[in-house]
Amino acid sequence: MNPEQPPSDRKTAAPATVPKIQYRRPTVADGIRMWEIARDSQVLDVNSSYAYVLWAHDFTETSIVACADGRPVGFVTGYRKPRRPDVLMVWQVAVDADQRGRGIAAQMLIDLFRHCAGAGVTSLETTISPDNVGSQRTFASAAETLGLGFRSEPLFAVDDFPDAHQPEDLYILDRPTDI
Ligand SMILES: CC(C)(COP(=O)(O)OP(=O)(O)OC[C@H]1O[C@@H](n2cnc3c(N)ncnc32)[C@H](O)[C@@H]1OP(=O)(O)O)[C@@H](O)C(=O)NCCC(=O)NCCS
Repeated sequence: MNPEQPPSDRKTAAPATVPKIQYRRPTVADGIRMWEIARDSQVLDVNSSYAYVLWAHDFTETSIVACADGRPVGFVTGYRKPRRPDVLMVWQVAVDADQRGRGIAAQMLIDLFRHCAGAGVTSLETTISPDNVGSQRTFASAAETLGLGFRSEPLFAVDDFPDAHQPEDLYILDRPTDI
């Protein structure tokens, strides 16, 4: 996808026959596709296949897959922060290139947050590199739908990584507090 392409044009890029998207908790069997989607994104840090299989097993309640004709085409992996379990930390989000621009990523975040809100989650956090405008817009869109505030602050700098990694800013989606 061309990141410069305006959203209105992106929406028309969907396949001619558009299968209905179904959203559900991942199972161990989805770990393979989650790893493949991450690998094929050519943007995400690709973790070991074991990481995705383990995530689908242990963190299914804080993760989600989007399926077209039963096949995962997108995923979100997340966890509740051990010291702040009211925060859903989103680790990775990805959608297959030929399914982008259909609102799938934003819908996954919305569905996942609502699911976790039922278990006490009140805010969502993630980190995004400064050049990933698509991801920033996706989280902003989900925040708007959920009625959450949207702000960011620096978190990890280039020097925090052992390799040529971009910095990562912390994005916080929460309810504005009354002053
Ligand atoms: C980022 C990504 C997950 C977005 O998936 P998607 O399903 O196409 O996103 P959506 O269709 O739900 O878009 C949600 C909003 O973000 C906007 N958006 C998404 N990608 C965009 C892009 N590349 N440029 C500009 N805006 C973009 C959409 O226009 C939409 O805005 P709207 O609700 O105001 O109309 C997808 O491009 C991807 O997998 N990228 C590679 C992996 C990655 O960068 N993941 C995020 C870092 S963890």
